Amino acid sequence: MRAFLLTRRPAPGTLPDILQLAEIAQPEPRSREVVVRVAASTINIDDIHVAEGTFYGGIPIGRRPRPDRPVIPGSDLAGIVVGIGNQVRSIQIGEAVFGVQMPFKASGTWAQFCTIDERWITKKPANISFEAAAASGVSGLVALSAMKALRVDPGARLVIVGATGGIGAVAVQLATRAGAEVIGVCGTRSIDRAYSLGCSLVLDYSTGQWDRALQARGKAPVDRVLDLVGGRDTEEMARRVQTRNGIFVTVVGPDRFIGDHALGWGRILGILAHIGYRIVSSRLRGPRYVLTGPSPGGGGALAEVASDLAAGVVPSIDSMVPFELESMRQALRRAIAHENNGRIVIQVNQA
Ligand SMILES: NC(=O)c1ccc[n+]([C@@H]2O[C@H](COP(=O)([O-])OP(=O)(O)OC[C@H]3O[C@@H](n4cnc5c(N)ncnc54)[C@H](OP(=O)(O)O)[C@@H]3O)[C@@H](O)[C@H]2O)c1
Repeated sequence: MRAFLLTRRPAPGTLPDILQLAEIAQPEPRSREVVVRVAASTINIDDIHVAEGTFYGGIPIGRRPRPDRPVIPGSDLAGIVVGIGNQVRSIQIGEAVFGVQMPFKASGTWAQFCTIDERWITKKPANISFEAAAASGVSGLVALSAMKALRVDPGARLVIVGATGGIGAVAVQLATRAGAEVIGVCGTRSIDRAYSLGCSLVLDYSTGQWDRALQARGKAPVDRVLDLVGGRDTEEMARRVQTRNGIFVTVVGPDRFIGDHALGWGRILGILAHIGYRIVSSRLRGPRYVLTGPSPGGGGALAEVASDLAAGVVPSIDSMVPFELESMRQALRRAIAHENNGRIVIQVNQA
């Protein structure tokens, strides 16, 4: 099979130059794994960070590639099951599935075939394309866990910072479906998209501080804030407009674009200490601070993502790239420069 792979770890920002497209042996499934013929995958910014060893500033969760032990990056996948391990019970050969490969696995999803634990895939709704399903794995699981942490009630007023990105677009739709009034924060290019996703008001971060704009529009205070961008300024702006019994959920933390650079353990520990302090102190003073990640794929979360998709939740797709080296390099460079607006989908095999 053909796969995008690494035989050494790229320096931060150089994954596009180091990535190879090579012919390697097709993988065999272990007992609880299935082999998926991948129709579509995506580029998540964290795929790049894991590959470059800078995840969350340098927390080493991915395996280090070596010439004799290459690593295939990639986490989202959608495709057809073509092989199953001897203890797989939930999935059969021939079924269309989508899911998420764990980032510490060396056999990621940027490949024509991928072995994946059966608990991290689910059946793809028939009315959803492979591309849309692939774009919904990580985004859907993170948006779902954020919604659970936010405990959105009907009528709640929620600000989503980063409302039109991969996670944000799904979060806006889930929150409006739950009956919340959603105010989106995004850049100028994304304003129309944020309204079309269901935001009742959209604030442009490039024209000034969104908390001031919120107050000027008479929309403060708010109950909930979902931060998909990060940064201490986002925390501060949220604090100025939130009620004390509100909830602030972040999937990033106090450092914007964390993972773009290696920070060193001193700074990483400082960031983790800040998060720990915010979690504890916000329980006493409010609004409650929560850092969250993807819901575990097992235990029904992926099935919940699938049912949201079947019910009409649409992922944010920036563009499609063919399974070809030069196109992939260009797409990765756009992702590294944060030029994408939603998921970049890789079209791997014809379904
Ligand atoms: N905790 C976890 O488990 C987890 C998992 C996956 C991802 N993440 C993190 O979640 C973040 C979002 O991921 P994603 O895949 O949704 O990213 P994405 O698709 O690149 O979207 C990011 C969005 O943020 C907006 N944005 C950029 N700067 C902003 C600012 N200053 N204020 C408000 N909005 C701003 C952009 O809007 P414009 O395009 O309009 O500029 C863009 O739509 C990333 O930092 C990623 O590392 C965390």
